Amino acid sequence: MQKIPVIIDCDPGHDDAIALVLAFATEKLDIKAVTVTGGNQTLAKTLRNAKKVLCCLGKQPPVAAGADKPMFRDLEIAAEVHGESGLDGPNLPDPPWEELPMPAWELSRDIILQSRQPVTLIPTGPLTNIGILFTAYPEVKRNIARISLMGGSVMAGGNWSAAAEFNILVDPEAADIVFRSGVPITMSGLDVTHKALILPEELESIRALQGPVPRMVAELIDFYYKYHAAQGFPGAPMHDPCAVAAVAAPELFTMRDMRVDIETKGAHTTGMTLADIRSWSDAKPNVSVCLDIDRPAFARMLISACKNYH
Ligand code: RIB
Ligand code: CA
Repeated sequence: MQKIPVIIDCDPGHDDAIALVLAFATEKLDIKAVTVTGGNQTLAKTLRNAKKVLCCLGKQPPVAAGADKPMFRDLEIAAEVHGESGLDGPNLPDPPWEELPMPAWELSRDIILQSRQPVTLIPTGPLTNIGILFTAYPEVKRNIARISLMGGSVMAGGNWSAAAEFNILVDPEAADIVFRSGVPITMSGLDVTHKALILPEELESIRALQGPVPRMVAELIDFYYKYHAAQGFPGAPMHDPCAVAAVAAPELFTMRDMRVDIETKGAHTTGMTLADIRSWSDAKPNVSVCLDIDRPAFARMLISACKNYH
């Protein structure tokens, strides 16, 4: 079975960390690099967190830091969700290795242009690094198979404002560049990620596994779920792991092709992913929007991934 070459761009972040656990556990993905952006916390913290998680997984892919702020705006972080470190909960050691000196968009450019097989991008944070990549090196688009991103929402409203999901709201201009790029997009927005829950009994089955990775995942969810339990969620929403699962196991998802545009100027709607759902619209779809998920199968996939490191 030919593996799918992927680059993961993330802002760890608890769910980003669990997305990395899932990505490195599945046989279907060949992870060429992990790049990092500011988002859930500052770039210095998200970079350190990405390296800590990779160290816990025993993985050492090429790692490069990208943008420490959005393309045209100041960075907005989510410390109330992910804590002061951006990965509060587990106590993880720093790895003995360092990231590459080149910026994320140069590492991604090199990997994409040298790849014999079109590369899939899996961004799970603000889209700044991808926006810069497409602006500086548009030639890469010809060798990108798909972008499977976590972000946005077409019918589920926002989570960081009434209209917008965090990843898109932090850098709407970068998201606009990506959504207008012509590269096929699979969007795991809040419509599906609010259904992609790890329930308390499933968390306990992860905790019961032996080893540093199941322990890390359980401690990550323990911290992360506090925020979501207070909002009334019956389980911890696995936003970013959806973007990985949509590549590794698309059969778990119900998707619908839609035209989705990014609002970058609205007084109340900046960061909104506006889907044209009019049945009579002649707008050309640019996004496969994930609307539903086989949640039990998704949870089993995540638990199995934790066992993979067992
Ligand atoms: O809105 C959820 C998204 O914002 C996730 O990617 C989470 O990690 C945060 O970045
Ligand atoms: Ca994220």
